[in-house]
Amino acid sequence: MECEEQRLAWDNVIPLANGEEYKNKRKLFQQHFHPNNMSLHRAGVRQSLPQLLTSVLDNPGDFRRANKMFMIGTIVKLTYGVQKQDRVEYYAKLFDDALEPPMRAAIPGSYLVDIFPWLKYVPEWFPGAGFKKEAREGKELGRRFADEPLEEALKLMVISQTFTMLHSGNGEPYFVATAHADADSAGAGVETTVGTLDYFYYTMTEYPEVQTRAQNELDEYLQGQGLADFHDQPHLPYITAIVKELLRWQPVVPLGIAHQSTEDLVYDGLFIPKDSIIMANQWAMSLDEEEYPEPHVFKPERYLTPDGQLDPSAPNPESIAFGFGRRFCPGSHIALSTMFITVSALLELFTFTKVEEFDPKRQVKSGTSTR
Ligand code: HEM
Repeated sequence: MECEEQRLAWDNVIPLANGEEYKNKRKLFQQHFHPNNMSLHRAGVRQSLPQLLTSVLDNPGDFRRANKMFMIGTIVKLTYGVQKQDRVEYYAKLFDDALEPPMRAAIPGSYLVDIFPWLKYVPEWFPGAGFKKEAREGKELGRRFADEPLEEALKLMVISQTFTMLHSGNGEPYFVATAHADADSAGAGVETTVGTLDYFYYTMTEYPEVQTRAQNELDEYLQGQGLADFHDQPHLPYITAIVKELLRWQPVVPLGIAHQSTEDLVYDGLFIPKDSIIMANQWAMSLDEEEYPEPHVFKPERYLTPDGQLDPSAPNPESIAFGFGRRFCPGSHIALSTMFITVSALLELFTFTKVEEFDPKRQVKSGTSTR
């Protein structure tokens, strides 16, 4: 685990150790993406959704790209107020390029330096030290992805809730003032939500009976009166159960994000020394047979009572998928409501079927997140 330079390519929230800088950034993030700010987030999602639906209609084979554009569009709108589609496309490309190096670096053993730590001290041109060049370039791309939308928005004087002031009334820096250091909202929010949504298309083709039951629920409730909205969620328990099962069935961050113990401790009889790196095996927890019988089967019913309502006593995969402790995902509420509205809209308008020559299983890339 020596490739620190590259791991820190995005010196944002996720790679930061606990400390003042981390606490301030997390606080700003939570203020901006606070559940009380839901109307702002929901407006952003509503604006981006038609583009997703049109893209799926025009080009169903390219659903992954459509998902990505949708989430990047939503997140750059929420974070920086970026509105124009061509700019969203530009940032989508920059995002992809910027994310690749840290995603690779996060897998222990990806680079020779993980095995021969002394390579850290050799120059960039030295054989085996290619990671240094990648780290430098990755860092530059990450910085551009963080800075450019901020500069663009300031130049255009976009007036939105995000941009009305750089400082809040009490003189503290407002979210956007530090947004350039918080490109995490994009990194963390896009990659994970897109990955989960990608599996949605796959599961619908593999489990047509789930798709039909969901469409029946939507038809019965909506009676052909347009698309479901966020406030309809309590009336659509099966759709909510699909979102839960998507999070469980294929956790997109299968080994979580590495945590580090800040002191010596004993857990369940095991001594864990200070500074240990701890990986939470979210994949194993999500597939635990005792909690989730027949874990490999995509079964939204597992979260429902016999009369089809959400079962409060059923295990909740959200408590695994979004991580643990003080680093628990601060965007989980945005992810859940975005997935609810997206899954509802897609199932109201489309029926997904398998195309023989396309096997999505073979196209999954693994890394910190599966994609
Ligand atoms: C299906 C969607 C999502 C999943 C599965 C997911 C999962 C996770 C996980 C596993 C972590 C690491 C938690 C830990 O260290 O224990 C995390 C952290 C984080 N997530 Fe999410 N996330 C999702 C969506 C989002 C969204 C939409 C946003 C932003 C709007 C977001 C922002 C963040 C941030 C900023 C962190 C770092 C928190 C910290 O280190 O304090 N995530 N997420």
